[in-house]
Amino acid sequence: MTRHLRSLLDLSPAETTRVIDLAAEIKADPASCAGALAGKSIAMIFAKQSTRTRISFEVGIHQLGGQALALSSGGGTGMQMGRGESVSDTAKVLSRYVDAIVIRTFGQDQVDELAEHGSVPIVNALTDLYHPCQALADLLTIREHHQKTQGKRLVWVGAGNNVAHSLLLAGPRAGMDVCCCCPPSLPPNAFVYERARTEAAAAGTRVELCSDPVDAVAGADVIYADTWVSMGEEEESARLLRELAPYQVNYALMRAAGDQARFMHCLPAHRGEEVTDAVMDSPQSIVFDQAENRLHAQKALLLLLLGARPWT
Ligand code: CP
Ligand code: NVA
Repeated sequence: MTRHLRSLLDLSPAETTRVIDLAAEIKADPASCAGALAGKSIAMIFAKQSTRTRISFEVGIHQLGGQALALSSGGGTGMQMGRGESVSDTAKVLSRYVDAIVIRTFGQDQVDELAEHGSVPIVNALTDLYHPCQALADLLTIREHHQKTQGKRLVWVGAGNNVAHSLLLAGPRAGMDVCCCCPPSLPPNAFVYERARTEAAAAGTRVELCSDPVDAVAGADVIYADTWVSMGEEEESARLLRELAPYQVNYALMRAAGDQARFMHCLPAHRGEEVTDAVMDSPQSIVFDQAENRLHAQKALLLLLLGARPWT
């Protein structure tokens, strides 16, 4: 059966742990998997901008001995998909050439459609709904800084967006509590939140929604922020900046959290908006470890999805 990472719903808790364990092994000994994807080609379709995701996938695939094809979805050198070729036809054609497809786009339906009509693994490199590769790297980072993820508490401070959704699903998979602290007008997607609640109940962890950042962060192990205006939301930016202003992660909020708290951000950060320089550059900030761990986590993910390493 072809395996995908359309969202973290594609991974069981045990499989999530396997990705993180393998990522840690690869990080400790990169030579252990050099050449593991020799002869494999991976298409990477980007319909939105990217620094970390695109570069870490491209470098990671190179380090594994594979070939990465970085493609844009439109424009002069872009794919025909950008001028109307259907996602299903694109999936069928690409499946004849490449061994996996990594895609960053707007609608989650495009990722799902590629998986439905193609015959190779599909990896979601960010949609409006999810960012699962980010959450996998984040679990590795939390484990590194807090020794484990089990029993830890992550507080999301901001709108209920794509990164928040993947962290809500990551929590129950990693034995971690997640509190989504957002303005009541900008909640997480209802399906994702309810699914995360159900999974948390089964896993014995907690998933909660709240709106007061000072209350929410007390005793937290991780405070997590993201841009107030995600890609594709530019027209709504005035409203988002206004409604999210009380959700800035600043020195006072980190003090309210406590010394044990680490600050995380998927980046790119908008310094002076969702986070201040003082927090970004503080010893509690682990944002650049997160960025590095994208590389290791994605290498592990590709090895597993392409069958170069066993899931169990
Ligand atoms: N965090 C993240 O996905 O960054 P990019 O948008 O630069 O890929
Ligand atoms: N929520 C952000 C994440 C960027 C990595 C966005 O979608 O733009």
